[in-house]
Amino acid sequence: MNRREFIFAWWKKKPVYQIYPKSFFDTTGSGTGDLRGVIEKLDHVKSLGAGVIWLTPIYPSPMIDNGYDIADYTAINPLFGTMKDFDELIAEAKRRDIKIVMDLVFNHSSDQHPWFLESKTSRENPKADWYIWRDEKTNWRSIFGGSAWTWCEERGQYYLHTFAKEQPDLNWENPDVRRALFDAANFWLDKGVGGFRIDAIVYIKKPEKFLDGKADAPDGTCAVHNMIANTPGILDFLREFKREVFAGRDIFTVAEANSVKPEELKFWVGNDGVFDMLFEFSHVNVMFNNGDEVWHRSHPIKLSEFKKALSSSQAVTRHSWYPIYFENHDKPRSVNNFFPHGSDKILAAKAMAIILFGLRGTPFIYQGEEIGMTNAAFKTIDEYDDISSRGAYDLARADGLSDKEAMRFVQKFSRDNARTPMQWNSSANAGFTSGKPWLPVHDDFKTCNVEAEEKNPDSVLNFYRKLSALRNSSDVLLRGEYEEIFPTNEEIFPTNEEIFVFTRMLGMKKIIIAVNFTTHDVNLPEKIFDGAKKILGNYPDEKNFLRATEAVIYGN
Ligand code: NOJ
Repeated sequence: MNRREFIFAWWKKKPVYQIYPKSFFDTTGSGTGDLRGVIEKLDHVKSLGAGVIWLTPIYPSPMIDNGYDIADYTAINPLFGTMKDFDELIAEAKRRDIKIVMDLVFNHSSDQHPWFLESKTSRENPKADWYIWRDEKTNWRSIFGGSAWTWCEERGQYYLHTFAKEQPDLNWENPDVRRALFDAANFWLDKGVGGFRIDAIVYIKKPEKFLDGKADAPDGTCAVHNMIANTPGILDFLREFKREVFAGRDIFTVAEANSVKPEELKFWVGNDGVFDMLFEFSHVNVMFNNGDEVWHRSHPIKLSEFKKALSSSQAVTRHSWYPIYFENHDKPRSVNNFFPHGSDKILAAKAMAIILFGLRGTPFIYQGEEIGMTNAAFKTIDEYDDISSRGAYDLARADGLSDKEAMRFVQKFSRDNARTPMQWNSSANAGFTSGKPWLPVHDDFKTCNVEAEEKNPDSVLNFYRKLSALRNSSDVLLRGEYEEIFPTNEEIFPTNEEIFVFTRMLGMKKIIIAVNFTTHDVNLPEKIFDGAKKILGNYPDEKNFLRATEAVIYGN
């Protein structure tokens, strides 16, 4: 592969479409989506110009964390289908020039994985140190709330879990553990998958000081994240991972890596790094302080902070590449998340799409984003399935919030917001299932659904298709340099908290994108468009100012 081909590798050219199979399309009436459902809807994915599908975990699992608790790394969960279905999915996707990317969850397994079942039996069995066992526990809080340590009666020790107690952390210090994980990854590559999204990878190395069993966090509520994320020495594991699995294969890897610092990025991504791209969280976590993602301690998003996070990650794309995303299965719907209450939802969905396709990097579309799906807002905590919502609720109550106050944050941030079933048409259950859906369908499905939007030339769906076609055929959007206009200087640009304006430049060619995040008109500083012509926008006509939630793309 020569350098030019490497720089504009296939995974940079087309968007990735993320599928949460449980909520995508059910072909059996079980109430749960399945692999045959993904096969049936491949043409929908294709219509968005996507070149890759990222499937969240489809392995056997007790589903405590909806598949992020894996009980067998090299098989298919019968809930989703069979290995034959999976092979057919790869083949059918290939026929449409789409690659399938798997989710690797290697920081932890399920507590029902045979490795853990063996490990917990004694301190002497062959898998005794495949997990992290200690006689004493620290005060660390797990990411889903509650202690990060759980006592195991059988073995008479505590085990560590960064996430739920049913997700014990694997001990990467043990070479046999690493070998077993690398073998599992290679199993899927040999089947022809196009690469991996790699879960929670920053937690695989635990700090040395932890090993003496006395490493309390400075404050008793401090999350395990702050104690173990990105521990020095982690790169040795990751380089071995690359050597043993990715090296020499024409695949792409995107690692979930909250908290990697900008100065460390060169070791993580790019030619000399380990992965092709990193999912970092700075722009989607601007409402949280100090990396501690406690929902009820969030503050309202300041547009200037959001833009600053985006612009600094755009800088990374000068030497490496970046995934552009605003939604996934862990985040609220962006229409609710980034726009003020009262914004028009269709305009907002289109405005976000303009940014998604306008920034430099590979756009990741999360299922339902392309039709403008919105947050679920169930009334009581019992209606939420998401394990982290229940943990966040308990933490808020323990901090003195009333049920009503705690629920306000759950409704705003619950991961179930993104997990309600995909809305295909206006028939019962939005056409997602003929049975009882595992999570209720959003009540706006009569108007917000694929079939209705197919027929409407002005729909969010058709806007996505246009934008994707535009990006896939535009050198400036694919390769052009990013620059923010009037970044974060209140004096020069008093509308800093209201609009986001940036350009993409390639030689003499220029694209200018401007988005109004308010519900009122905002004047544009003069000459922003500088004689350029409007290419696309979420209003049909043109003004010399931006209307409520207006987003435009201009080009010369
Ligand atoms: C990140 C995944 O995206 C999330 O859904 C999961 O709960 C955690 N990692 C733990 O695997």
